[in-house]
Amino acid sequence: MDTPTPPAAGAAPVLVERAGRVGLVTLNRPKALNALDDALMDALGAALLAFDADEGIGAIVIAGGPKAFAAGADIAAMVDWTIADVERDRFITRNWETIRRVRKPVLAAVSGWAMGGGCELALACDIVVAGRSARFGLPEIRLAMLPGAGGTQRLPRAIGKAKAMDMCLSGRVLDADEADRYGLVSRVVDDDRLLEETLALATAIAGYSLPALRAIKESVDRAYESTLAEGVLFERRQLYARFASEDAHEGMRAFLDKRTPSFGHR
Ligand code: CAA
Repeated sequence: MDTPTPPAAGAAPVLVERAGRVGLVTLNRPKALNALDDALMDALGAALLAFDADEGIGAIVIAGGPKAFAAGADIAAMVDWTIADVERDRFITRNWETIRRVRKPVLAAVSGWAMGGGCELALACDIVVAGRSARFGLPEIRLAMLPGAGGTQRLPRAIGKAKAMDMCLSGRVLDADEADRYGLVSRVVDDDRLLEETLALATAIAGYSLPALRAIKESVDRAYESTLAEGVLFERRQLYARFASEDAHEGMRAFLDKRTPSFGHR
């Protein structure tokens, strides 16, 4: 598949760029704190799928702006919707869940607000790097709504039931250090280094063998969706499959030869 063409800055709901083997998608509705409407989620999903299909890309970064990663689903768009509307249009299912189809590692670079659907989008990523200004919350209760893009499911798996219930039922907002302590984020960095550090991490990951990255992502994700015995069995099959991989033989041979491996992503 062709590389996505970067849209013109300004009007486009997401900006799409590439840096070596890393695809960067920047949410681009700063005036609405990157509130996630259909146009933005359609564009994000399309960019993610294009990068996932691009053999020159090994990892993907989703970034927001300095004030907000994303402040959640677009409340102005939703305010008059009826149940018939959301059933017909398969709200969330239709375009928010595209990220679940991405097999390459996806990193979120979060500064500022990650609220509601913005927090849920970060939770759907594989690695979350937070700037010190990052704030995570699922405040839907204030709207008499509920976190509906996986928040009630992924948050307890990430940080445990006690903290998740607190956040969902009271609207408690976590700062970056709390989110780090509780296991919602992978690492915290200074805001002015957030994008640089996230891209550096993504570049390091993208330099590894892509089939091995896919196998690891699939195996870790399986831990959320299976018993331990089934997960370990799945992992074992993935391990055996590594022995059919040129890269695995190259990686082990290079270690023994004391040289840097050269991966063909096969
Ligand atoms: N939807 C639509 N517009 C939003 C928005 C949202 N989720 N969040 C912010 N905006 C808009 C504001 O309406 C405002 O627009 P105007 O300038 O035209 O008035 C602009 O963005 C700036 O916002 P604020 O003035 O409120 O900025 P602030 O710095 O004072 O506050 C904030 C920041 C605490 C994040 C606050 O904007 C806020 O609470 N936003 C809503 C958060 C929220 O409730 N998210 C959950 C949405 S529901 C959901 O996500 C359901 C789901 O699970 C899928």
